[in-house]
Amino acid sequence: MANTGEGDQTQVSRHQEVGHKSLLQSDALYQYILETSVYPREPECMKELREVTAKHPWNIMTTSADEGQFLNMLLKLINAKNTMEIGVYTGYSLLATALAIPDDGKILAMDINRENFELGLPSIEKAGVAHKIDFREGPALPVLDQMIEDGKYHGTFDFIFVDADKDNYLNYHKRLIDLVKVGGVIGYDNTLWNGSVVAPPDAPLRKYVRYYRDFVIELNKALAADPRIEICMLPVGDGVTICRRIS
Ligand SMILES: C[S@@+](CC[C@H](N)C(=O)[O-])C[C@H]1O[C@@H](n2cnc3c(N)ncnc32)[C@H](O)[C@@H]1O
Repeated sequence: MANTGEGDQTQVSRHQEVGHKSLLQSDALYQYILETSVYPREPECMKELREVTAKHPWNIMTTSADEGQFLNMLLKLINAKNTMEIGVYTGYSLLATALAIPDDGKILAMDINRENFELGLPSIEKAGVAHKIDFREGPALPVLDQMIEDGKYHGTFDFIFVDADKDNYLNYHKRLIDLVKVGGVIGYDNTLWNGSVVAPPDAPLRKYVRYYRDFVIELNKALAADPRIEICMLPVGDGVTICRRIS
């Protein structure tokens, strides 16, 4: 939609008032990003996986194409090789990761649901990157506890992407901070949680949005206060907070 209406003018002055610097003033602008720089560069296998996912009833859970492109770029920039993903669903972010890391790179991928992972698996196999993935079906927390106990995994991960049960993010963080190497990166997805982090208490939110909102707000506060990491919260997708371990 063109940026000319009265509502837009109110929005412009509101943006100035709070020093708003986001360029995303409209859905049309988001569409422009997708059509100009994301879809034309999206690998065929990722497009195929995105289209398979679009037909699934829970498709709202998938990582967006622009976020997939961002993750792929970030992984290459940091030369990530040993990685982990918590929350796979049909594997869009997993494939973005698998394509970014070297041929002998690894992804420890965890999800309580294997069936959805298997929907995307043919596209991952076709892309020739399935050998990088060690998929574990089940809750992630016990696997992390086992790795902490084992000792040999401390400080070994270059990159960890967390996109699962929001009520466990702080539990994940307590463990992941030991498993990621100093200089490595943890990405927490959905940290703007559908914009609900700034919704007034009486806002009409969907039940699951309301339930997880307080956990996301707590996580955001905890990450901002954690001296072991540097952080950057990006308004990509549903909000993604990039944490770089510094100690
Ligand atoms: C938002 S989806 C992940 C989206 C995925 N990153 C993508 O690119 O499509 C969240 C996933 O977390 C999984 N999940 C929920 N609780 C979990 C847990 N305790 N351990 C591991 N995975 C979990 C769900 O089964 C679901 O597939």
